[in-house]
Amino acid sequence: MNNSTAGLDEAAALEASERRERAKAAGCPVVHFDYTTPKPAGTYFQAFDELRAETPVAYSDYGPGFWMLLTADLVRDAYQTPEVFSSSATIPSVPHPDWTWIPTMIDPPEHADFRRVLNVAFSPRFVRDLEPTIRQDCIDTIESFVADGKVDFLEDFAKIFPTQVFLRILGLPMEHTDMFMGWVETVFEGLGHFGDFAEDQLVAQREIHAYFAEVLKDRRANPHPEEEGDFFTILASSKVGDRLMTEEEFLNMSEVLLLAGLDTVKSQLSYMFHHLANNQADREWITREPEIIPNAVEEFLRAHTIVMGARQVAKDTDYAGCPMKKGDMVMVAGPSASRDEAEYDNPAEIQLDRKVNRHFSFAAGPHRCVGAHLARTELAIVLEEWHKRIPHYRVTNTEGLVESGPQVGIEELHLAWD
Ligand code: HEM
Repeated sequence: MNNSTAGLDEAAALEASERRERAKAAGCPVVHFDYTTPKPAGTYFQAFDELRAETPVAYSDYGPGFWMLLTADLVRDAYQTPEVFSSSATIPSVPHPDWTWIPTMIDPPEHADFRRVLNVAFSPRFVRDLEPTIRQDCIDTIESFVADGKVDFLEDFAKIFPTQVFLRILGLPMEHTDMFMGWVETVFEGLGHFGDFAEDQLVAQREIHAYFAEVLKDRRANPHPEEEGDFFTILASSKVGDRLMTEEEFLNMSEVLLLAGLDTVKSQLSYMFHHLANNQADREWITREPEIIPNAVEEFLRAHTIVMGARQVAKDTDYAGCPMKKGDMVMVAGPSASRDEAEYDNPAEIQLDRKVNRHFSFAAGPHRCVGAHLARTELAIVLEEWHKRIPHYRVTNTEGLVESGPQVGIEELHLAWD
């Protein structure tokens, strides 16, 4: 067993070695891309930039090992070719997950049945109707600390606001905010690791399931009136093909919403505010010209695409010169593809008025983020309401300005203003 395969059982270590040798024999660059170790903010983006400059595709021998697709054309193609790149596993170093996230891990054509249910709740119209409420939540949270002249940005704002939005959209009690934040944190700490955190992660997943099992029981026994448009009443009576969704499917889908919608927005906000706190010209631009905000949001999403997605090879294939075998994992490196020089001028630079912006922040293909419209709305509301009240601010911590994957985000960010 070499260093790269430490932590794997014997069979998995053997398979990992076979894959590594296969990559080497084909002349595919072999790297050790450990995306789980916290590193100074920006390090992973730079590492992707450097690797992409050398090769469009690589093999990482971290953990069980995975192929890495680094360019915009390969990432787009993989997301759009589910018959080769399946969603049966979606974390690069976890080829055998103990869970089935729905609809995330369901391939077409079955995927469309589940997706249809979600499309309604996250449609632009639904989000627009809720906008005044979520804007007020955002204002209230900012105003709770504006007079203090400082804030622990992630703990006291960026975790709270998306959780409030989530509870509002799904019609759950606002008092459950802290409980939801705790679950999300535990599950995300465990993601991508193949050992240490797995037990805590499974406990949190069991608690999440127990919570939503109660919600299902309640909505099946006491459905809300149709005109309320209650999400879980609709979900509890939703059909997949010609049958009702099973309890297990309901729970798995609820868990996905929780995991997909909270930590993502928090992480995106961490990069946005880190950049703006350190960049007076951009801060002033946003404050002076709030019309730039929708474009600025796209640029922040592009420059710091946070999800290192993954797919599992569904059939043996020679792809971009690499011999991939059924069951192999492939990192679909959105953070790299969104900064591909073939598509953007000066991709590492943040230009708030950048025109061309087909980034991979929300993936592509059938699993493209169902919450994209909601996320964009949340991010824009934060930029608008924050800069009306706090136009100038600075970062005050040097410790904790670190990131790690597979969903990168700055781990601690303290801001202060005069
Ligand atoms: C900045 C914020 C967000 C980012 C960067 C993001 C990113 C992504 C990405 C990359 C995927 C594709 C995953 C894959 O196929 O493996 C995805 C899927 C998904 N996202 Fe988001 N997301 C964000 C916010 C949200 C929000 C607010 C919600 C809803 C509460 C949400 C719900 C979902 C769901 C349900 C899926 C699964 C869609 C499917 O499999 O068909 N996301 N998201």
